[in-house]
Order: sequence, then C-alpha cells, then structure tokens
Amino acid sequence: MLDGKRILLIVSGGIAAYKCPDLVRRLRERGCQVRCLLTRSGAEFVTALALQSVSEEKVYQELFSLTDENEMGHIRLSREADVILIAPATANIIAKMAHGQADDLATTTLLASDKPVIIAPAMNHRMWDHPATRHNLQTLTARGVQVIGPDQGAMACGEFGMGRMSEPLAIADALGQFFRHGLPLAGRRALVTSGPTFEAIDPVRFIGNRSSGKQGHAIARALAALGCETTLVSGPTRLADPPGVSVVAVESARQMLAACETALPVDIVVCAAAVADWRADQEQASKIKKTTGRKPPPLKLTENPDILALLAKPGKNRPALVIGFAAETDDVVANAIAKRQRKQCDWIIANDVSAATGTFTGDFNQVHLISADGIKDWPKMSKSAVGEMLGQHIVDHFSEAP
Ligand code: CTP
Repeated sequence: MLDGKRILLIVSGGIAAYKCPDLVRRLRERGCQVRCLLTRSGAEFVTALALQSVSEEKVYQELFSLTDENEMGHIRLSREADVILIAPATANIIAKMAHGQADDLATTTLLASDKPVIIAPAMNHRMWDHPATRHNLQTLTARGVQVIGPDQGAMACGEFGMGRMSEPLAIADALGQFFRHGLPLAGRRALVTSGPTFEAIDPVRFIGNRSSGKQGHAIARALAALGCETTLVSGPTRLADPPGVSVVAVESARQMLAACETALPVDIVVCAAAVADWRADQEQASKIKKTTGRKPPPLKLTENPDILALLAKPGKNRPALVIGFAAETDDVVANAIAKRQRKQCDWIIANDVSAATGTFTGDFNQVHLISADGIKDWPKMSKSAVGEMLGQHIVDHFSEAP
C-alpha cells in the first residue's frame, strides 16, 4: 500500500529519534521513498549520516543553506512529498505547529505545506498531560493533523507513563492505513495462498511442483493496492514480497493451512497455491540411504488437507467471498465447474496448465471466471493484469452486494 509513496520524515529532538533509522528502513521495505529533515535538536539524538545511509537520500537540516535552497528549497521538500510524518514529534514542535511558527527548516516547511501531516508524539508523560500540549494537539487535530500513539511505558527519564513514541512497525502500519483510506477495498481483509508446497520425504528430499507463485503474488499485490489489508501465505518461491502485503512463508500444506487459519477472520479468500495433494506418509528423520536395502524404498502417501474446501465450508465464520483456482490440463471448464461445486467456493478461476501453454511457470495466463452467474472467458493477459482484473471484480462484487 505504501509502494511508491513519498514520505518527508521530520525528525525532531527527542530520545526516540534513535528509532528513526529503523523507521526509515521499515518504510522503505514497504516501497516508500523517505526523505529526512533533521532539526537541530534532533541531530543531538541521531546523526544525519545514519539517516542518509538508510534512506539513501540527502538529509536536510539548515534553513538558510544556499546549496540546499538551490537544490531543494523548503517549498519543494513539501511539494515532492505525499505526506509529512513527524517522528518523534516533541511537545516543542507540536506547540510551534499549533502557533504557526516558522523559525527553522522543519517549521517553515510545515507552514508552507498543504500536504497531509501525521505526527508520532514522544515526550515525558507530564508534558503529554499538560493543558498546553492538550490544547495544542486539539488545535492540530482540528486542522486535520493525524496522531499516531503515543504508547504507555518506561521512559528514558526513568518515569513510567503515556508518552513513548509508537514503535516503527506500528507507525509504518498506521501510514499504510492512512493511504488505504478512501480506496475501494479499504476496511476489508483478504487472505491469498500462493506458490507450491513442499512435502518432506526426509531431511533432504521433498515432493513439490513447478508453481512459480506469480499469479498468487500478483493477486495479493492487486488487492493491497485497492486498499485491502492482505495476508499472503506462500510456499517456497523466488519472488519478492509484494509491497504492502503481510507475507507468511510456509513449506508444507499443513503449515499453509495453519497459517491460513491464523489469518482469519477475513472477508476475501483467494486460493491460488498449487498445494500438494499428498505428502509422504511418514517423514523420515534421517536421510534415506541408497545402500539401505537392495530395492528403491516404497513411498507411501497420505492425503493433505484441502485448504480451499476447508475455508469455503459453510458456517457462520465463512469468509464472504471464497475464490479458488482450477489448474486443469483436460476439459478445463467442465472440470472447473465440478471443482467449484465440490469445494463450495463462490468463484473458481479455471486455467489450462498443459505444458504447451507455459502457464505454470510463465508470466501470462488465460483464465475463465466461473461463478453462480455463469462463465466469463478472459483474454490471455499477464498474470499482473489477471490480478488487477480479479481485484476489480471483487470491488464490483462488494459494491453490488446488499
Ligand atoms: N487446493 C487447496 N488445498 C489442497 C488442494 C488444492 O487449497 N490440498 C486449492 C488450490 O489452491 C486451488 C483449488 O484447490 O484453489 C484447486 O486446486 P487443483 O490443484 O486445481 O485441484 P485439486 O483439488 O488438487 O484436484 P485435482 O488434482 O483432482 O485437479
């Protein structure tokens, strides 16, 4: 959700500034560009070099620096940001903002900006509770400034109370929610399975399949971009985590099922994983030696749980929309229709995975969307486009639903 978003991070002077390099890292992991503006007192707690190293961007500090004004004035700093985040936001910078002061680069940039502002306050609990701070915060929130935290806990001053800056992960999550707001799937949660599963035979061998995970990952990415809070449970793939998606890496079908159950409740399930239907009856703790016995060892198999069928089972906690895939090589549509009924999913996406189509490992897919309303044949398109088109169908489904 944060992919491509440009954050101007103002670091003011509180001890929590030491968490800022981690905050920058968390935001960049989610695909943000982060540009830091370090106040003079902020620089007492964290160095410009540390922020520059993690952000890979110049750090801005001085208002009247001729080079900075040439290269990037305070107006441009704000203009080139989607949001201004102040973390930590001290009682002092909050007071200056409330009164419209502009006596350094941070406050001048803020006064000259029309961009959304989010603050993560950090201060001693008495300062947080002080009527002046309460009043200043009311002024800021009335102007639309959003506030993340603070948390309760032990403070650097040795006291305990409300005023610790929220953890970097929580700030990054809150920013994700901020950008989701207003998007068509905001407020909805989705679970997507992707990739193959590996079923261990012994510590070195496994049963697996050729699934690349490209389709499942593309769907998770598309749903997140539509504002959906998305969990991707993925078997082993070579793919990068889609931005804005929480990814749970698993190996076996049973691990995949457990991770899916942990992600519940959700509104939407998309099972795109190529789950191994069978696993070795008994996983051997030691490597099976070629020299053990004269004949190849027999491989006894046992059936894996059907994750899609379990998630689609009718019941009061059943997700509102459950979508499966039908990977077929023969009678694609007829088999998929039967599979939809057998597994009780709402929609099934049928695709021909015969070797000649190159679908299983390739970048393109040609699918048929089968629902109670009938069959829609989609043209051949990239797996990313299939993800986006499915996302749009899901948006339409929920906007039409009573
Ligand atoms: N699926 C699942 N758990 C399994 C097997 C399949 O969740 N143990 C899901 C897949 O993610 C897919 C759908 O069920 O969404 C159909 O998978 P597919 O491999 O096409 O069908 P199978 O159920 O394995 O049936 P068959 O092998 O007979 O085609």
